[in-house]
Amino acid sequence: MLIKGARQLIGPFSWPPGSRPFPARPFMRLPLPSLPIPARPSQFCRQLASVGALPQLTKDRYPQVKRGSFSKLEQTHLQFFRDLLGSNRVITDEDECQSFNIDWIKNVRGFSQCILKPKSTEEVSKILAFCNNNRIAVCPQGGNTGLVGGSVPVFDEVVLWTGQMNKIINLDETSGVLVCQAGCILENLETFVGDSGLMIPLDLGAKGSCHIGGNVSTNAGGLRLVRYGNLHGSILGIEAVKADGEIIDCLSTLKKDNTGYHLKHLFIGSEGTLGIVTKVAIHCPSKPNAINVAFLGLKSFDDVLKTMKQAKQQLGEILSSCELIDEASLGLATGHLQLKCPLGVYPFYMLIETHGSNNEHDEEKMNTFLESIMADGLVEDGTTTNEVSKMNNIWALRERITEGSTHEGYIFKYDISLPTENFYSLVPIMKERMGESAKVVCGYGHIGDGNIHLQVIVNEFTQDALNKIEPFIYEYTSKLKGSVSAEHGVGFRKPKYIHYSKSPEAIALMKELKTMMDPNGILNPYKVLPS
Ligand code: FAD
Ligand code: MLT
Ligand code: ZN
Repeated sequence: MLIKGARQLIGPFSWPPGSRPFPARPFMRLPLPSLPIPARPSQFCRQLASVGALPQLTKDRYPQVKRGSFSKLEQTHLQFFRDLLGSNRVITDEDECQSFNIDWIKNVRGFSQCILKPKSTEEVSKILAFCNNNRIAVCPQGGNTGLVGGSVPVFDEVVLWTGQMNKIINLDETSGVLVCQAGCILENLETFVGDSGLMIPLDLGAKGSCHIGGNVSTNAGGLRLVRYGNLHGSILGIEAVKADGEIIDCLSTLKKDNTGYHLKHLFIGSEGTLGIVTKVAIHCPSKPNAINVAFLGLKSFDDVLKTMKQAKQQLGEILSSCELIDEASLGLATGHLQLKCPLGVYPFYMLIETHGSNNEHDEEKMNTFLESIMADGLVEDGTTTNEVSKMNNIWALRERITEGSTHEGYIFKYDISLPTENFYSLVPIMKERMGESAKVVCGYGHIGDGNIHLQVIVNEFTQDALNKIEPFIYEYTSKLKGSVSAEHGVGFRKPKYIHYSKSPEAIALMKELKTMMDPNGILNPYKVLPS
């Protein structure tokens, strides 16, 4: 398992060596006046929190959540698992179980005493059939990079880890369809299809650890959703195992297949509550021949909005990413991870990237865009490059904010969709609301698709801090008709807030589906749906 240390976990943005056929252009500084760097310290410079301590057990931190009437694990159960998988794929050692019990941002901690490591769909099927008959609760886990507490047990659920289901089954280079098992690590898939001139249409900072099955189960959005869409479009087929062990084969590799209900969509984004995803078929587009990145410093959010509008209009079909970073968020990456920012200090930074097939054409478009935003006085400073190492450095500033944040303290992380004009509005409101009780309040994220990540970082978790933030943040989001969970899912942290984004009738239908597909409720209990 790759996880456990934050640094080890992160795979920085990188293309396989030698995979970019276009000529490198030297790092080019935009001909903009550079403002002097203000002498004031950034918000992140305060004393680092201790991040080594174990989080409190979830059952103690959230005593209102009661254990369901599931069986306690007995020796006879363990014997069944050992007979099926062999002793080395049934983990019961307390220390070894620990890392499967704690989530990546150390928000929650369960106390499972059994980790199962199946290799095949048939093994998953037999495990679930047995657990269902014996009322044993199961927590599916992939790379354990989820950020809403969905991937770890709340109590003593058995963890079903997909890391050994990591076989690539087929790549059709002509259609670009990759079929693989659910436990393949995203970055490994990217490298594999990259050798055939293809790319995975999903990229995120956790790609060095997250599994494609976890990505599908969370409907992960990532850094290039503006260009490649979400997984409901790219995933062509799914094989999944229901709670009773029945295997549902919807592993179509076709772009078009309207035979009946599109069952694959039930598993995309259902966070392991309706079934365990065992195989996926994913459409891989051609790898771009040309990539260009611009990194801009801006003085106001109004300028950010105007810049984004122009990026969409002028870069059109080649715009692959449009990301926002505020000053405090950048500080978490530069301050804790020793990353260098090529620009001075600004309230806002934007990372704009293009993917295209013709570099000359793309560069011309990028330059025209940059000239026009400069002429309109929208950016204060900026750099642009298509040199791989420079692009990687710039991307690290964005991708590694999450990692940098873990060094600052306890993170209350929110993942919200808001109408574009209100995208940043919650950040100053939360800053004011938290006052001195927060070390950092910051916002960054996928402004191109309206999804902001708002973080409130404190020295350590307190119920008071939580009460200051929730439900206020969700009420605010709901009033603006936003979503309380844009891309990370609902997991353990948000079931009681799902009604802020879904009607009672929609929630009732979700509960009916859950009851139909998992009548004993053994799959990832306490997650997604309110009790
Ligand atoms: P896990 O964390 O193991 O599990 C996530 C959920 O899926 C759990 O509910 C689990 O029970 C369920 N699950 C896992 N595997 C299966 C399966 N095979 N069948 C059924 N259910 C399953 N998310 C984004 O959307 N966009 C981002 O840009 C992004 N960036 C991130 C950057 C960092 C540094 C980190 C730490 C996280 C980031 N995330 C992001 C969140 C996380 O990486 C994604 O949610 C990812 O898709 C989770 O994959 P995983 O394999 O780690 O799943
Ligand atoms: C991101 O966009 O960086 C991820 O969703 C993770 C995060 O919210 O920090
Ligand atoms: Zn994100």
